[in-house]
Amino acid sequence: MPPDAGQPEVGQLGAVTMPQLGQGTWRMGEGGASRAQEADALRLGVDLGMTLIDTAEMYGDGAAEEVVADAIQGQRSRVFLVSKVYPHNASRAGVPAACERSLRRLRTDCLDLYLLHWRGQHPVAETVAAFEALRQAGKIRRWGVSNFDTRDMEGLPPALQHPDLQHPTLQHWGCAANQVLYNPGARGIEFDLLPWSRAHGVPIMAYSPVGQGGRLLRDPALRAVAARHGATPAAIAIAWTLRQPGVVSIPKAADAAHVRQNAAAAALRLTPEDLAELDAVFPPPRRKQPLEML
Ligand SMILES: NC(=O)c1ccc[n+]([C@@H]2O[C@H](COP(=O)([O-])OP(=O)(O)OC[C@H]3O[C@@H](n4cnc5c(N)ncnc54)[C@H](OP(=O)(O)O)[C@@H]3O)[C@@H](O)[C@H]2O)c1
Repeated sequence: MPPDAGQPEVGQLGAVTMPQLGQGTWRMGEGGASRAQEADALRLGVDLGMTLIDTAEMYGDGAAEEVVADAIQGQRSRVFLVSKVYPHNASRAGVPAACERSLRRLRTDCLDLYLLHWRGQHPVAETVAAFEALRQAGKIRRWGVSNFDTRDMEGLPPALQHPDLQHPTLQHWGCAANQVLYNPGARGIEFDLLPWSRAHGVPIMAYSPVGQGGRLLRDPALRAVAARHGATPAAIAIAWTLRQPGVVSIPKAADAAHVRQNAAAAALRLTPEDLAELDAVFPPPRRKQPLEML
């Protein structure tokens, strides 16, 4: 399959676009699989069109970023690279220092997207000011957040100047993404955060889309839908996260067979019957639920 085949993009932000299907890296570089196998898995995923790679300084204390560096060696321009800063590093001086360390481990000179991993002790306005300085210095192309609920999003500093933002709803909004837990078994964001994000043009990045490979994938309804499509439950779970505009999905897989299954999700289109069967087992939220975090 040619690179990037059939991959729609999310978040047409001026010159910056974000692929809809990507790959996570939590637990990489920690010895569960060899680093070479993990880098091979990421490279396979990129070849199959999963060109967004999500990592963080937290993962393996930087070891996951080193695995990503191996995976993107010689093909940096094909990849949309995302990393995250620890909340305790998210001060005015701490953000640029953490970013430099990540760039060094990743062996690149610019991140496509840099996220605050979750809210911590430093005022978010300070973190955003540091992100903006990094953007102006060319070290990151965009910034965003993770594990932010609707009220947190509403509290982000508005009216930052972004000459590259053309979408009318984004002209006063600098936040390029919010990465949150989202899969059929964790649908709380559908009540308020997802509609809010869509209205404000902020893409949602769905983390743990296959429920970390656990109980979710053994669910009989998910398995029945998968059987109808000749797909795996994991592919159905990922396709389910991608069924709506403005959502990016980042399954993690170190196993090559898993990578192939996950890449197949991009071509799956769930029917109204599929969705109704899944709704019956995984009902959408009927009231506000606090944002779940892992
Ligand atoms: N911002 C945050 O706070 C936050 C929190 C959690 C995650 N994340 C990001 O989101 C990414 C994804 O989330 P996650 O890693 O928690 O969970 P996940 O992607 O839902 O699940 C990963 C686990 O599922 C297994 N798996 C993957 N594809 C499979 C398939 N087709 N069939 C069966 N099992 C499969 C993987 O096994 P193998 O590795 O053996 O293939 C791995 O053990 C992370 O890696 C990270 O980049 C962000």
